[in-house]
Amino acid sequence: MAAQIIDGKKIAAQVNEESRKEISMLARDHNFQPGLAVILIGEDPASQVYVNMKDRKCRELGIYSAKHVLAAATPQEEVLELIAQLNHDPKINGILVQSPPPPQIDEEQVVAAVDPAKDVDCFHPQNVGKMFIGRQDGFFPCTPYGVMVLLERSGIDPAGRHAVIVGRSNIVGKPMLALLVQKTAGANATVTCVHSRTRSLPELTRRADILIAAIGKPEFITADMIRENAVVVDVGMNRVEDAGTQRGYRLVGDVKFDEVAEKAAFITPVPGGVGPMTIAMLMHNTIKACKMQHGIKI
Ligand code: GUN
Repeated sequence: MAAQIIDGKKIAAQVNEESRKEISMLARDHNFQPGLAVILIGEDPASQVYVNMKDRKCRELGIYSAKHVLAAATPQEEVLELIAQLNHDPKINGILVQSPPPPQIDEEQVVAAVDPAKDVDCFHPQNVGKMFIGRQDGFFPCTPYGVMVLLERSGIDPAGRHAVIVGRSNIVGKPMLALLVQKTAGANATVTCVHSRTRSLPELTRRADILIAAIGKPEFITADMIRENAVVVDVGMNRVEDAGTQRGYRLVGDVKFDEVAEKAAFITPVPGGVGPMTIAMLMHNTIKACKMQHGIKI
């Protein structure tokens, strides 16, 4: 039996509609417009696409968007100066530095320079800490948060089920672990995180009721690595060369979609699964940041 496709575009559209209403309410009742600053350093083509998508979604929903594109050779000090300026700019409620930055940039220092109240990516150590201990007055990182909302709105409750995360990045794998294990509605999973150093990785992925693939390797997860009727969430976004397409590449996830879809109960497609949710949760976080900065109830 073929899996049910989880439609990330549709669920993201619902979340965005809720955001649009919140933005109208903020304008009507408080005369505030949420603002997001996105910083892109360099010319990585994939990052350019993501940053433009974020900018466009802000405009669509009525969020003020300030896009700062810096040359690839920009020194660290200049990035830090821009962040300091944005930290003090009252029009800006959220600040995001697109990852990965060029090699001369110390990302850890850049992330720590963002005012935690404006850290809508939830990359600042203070917000990572809040997320880990289950506090609601920080942020949740956009991609893992998007996965939680996808599961919830698809009627999949992780409580008591075995979630296996493939990958341990700071952007996805590690925070995914924290959100899924949390003692809160929509979470309460038993969590295993597997990675490049894991022994007998397929034995562990086969024990997953919910498998989250976030390892950044095209079509890494094959049908023999999953359990019959598993829920499979594909966070991967890999460009693979394809001379037969106009762009010269195609996007594939970390899951071998066709064969895994035959065995899974639910699966997210790439594109159109987790990707749109990441942006929807970024918009949601920007609105939350605006409310918290103005002392409005969240
Ligand atoms: N690069 C890939 N995903 C993300 C993200 O969620 N935020 C930022 N800033 N950079 C990314």
